[in-house]
Amino acid sequence: MAALKKLIAGNWKMNMLASAGVGLARDIGANAQDLTCELLVCPPATILRPVAETLADTAVAAGGQDCHEAESGAFTGDVSAAMVGDAGASHVILGHSERRHGLGETDARVRAKTLAAHAAGLIAIVCIGETEAERDAGQTLDVLSTQLAGSLPDTGVTGANTVVAYEPVWAIGTGRTPTLEEVEAAHGHIRTTLEAALGAEAGAIRLLYGGSMKPENAETLLAVANVDGGLIGGASLDAESFLAIAAAAAS
Ligand code: 13P
Repeated sequence: MAALKKLIAGNWKMNMLASAGVGLARDIGANAQDLTCELLVCPPATILRPVAETLADTAVAAGGQDCHEAESGAFTGDVSAAMVGDAGASHVILGHSERRHGLGETDARVRAKTLAAHAAGLIAIVCIGETEAERDAGQTLDVLSTQLAGSLPDTGVTGANTVVAYEPVWAIGTGRTPTLEEVEAAHGHIRTTLEAALGAEAGAIRLLYGGSMKPENAETLLAVANVDGGLIGGASLDAESFLAIAAAAAS
């Protein structure tokens, strides 16, 4: 299969009030026209609509950072997948480690959210990754298998509606990254696991690497086999560094 077009996604996490977020989106959108990768920014839910509207005529898509699995109801503080889509998102991040480990989100919950995202026509970016203790115990690949099996629905998963992001928990926001060999082993294992479940369709699913990706290390990380893009936190909050990573993906 031909190489997948790389996807560079910014996860703004709980950062940016409206004026700063719209300004950042404007700066990214204005400089994205010549890139050969796909670009996505995922602002907080409160500014998803103005950011999506700012990006409407650009090559950059907007995404949410989470959604509830239910269609509607008494879930104070949550947003449904349809609401995320209604605000202008094409994608939604699900099962980020900050939700799995900070808020106790389980594989089963992530799977339910993924189903909800698909039903709402969103592309689910399903995050998986081992903790430092799990890596030290030699459990990384087993953890990834378990998370994949538990977090992805049994039916309906395609390259058009699902992206998998490998984010080692210990690499997020720490400035530390796995070696290129470790990234290759993890991504190869994810691809093989997806192939066992989905057959040839597995080759159409983008696998993103996330965790301290910066302009300085993006080109080498993005050149690793089975790395089809990046999910970027801190470095996505600055247009210049986010665009530099996008340029590395295109090179
Ligand atoms: P950092 O790029 O800040 O390490 O965050 C990665 C991440 O969690 C993206 O979802």
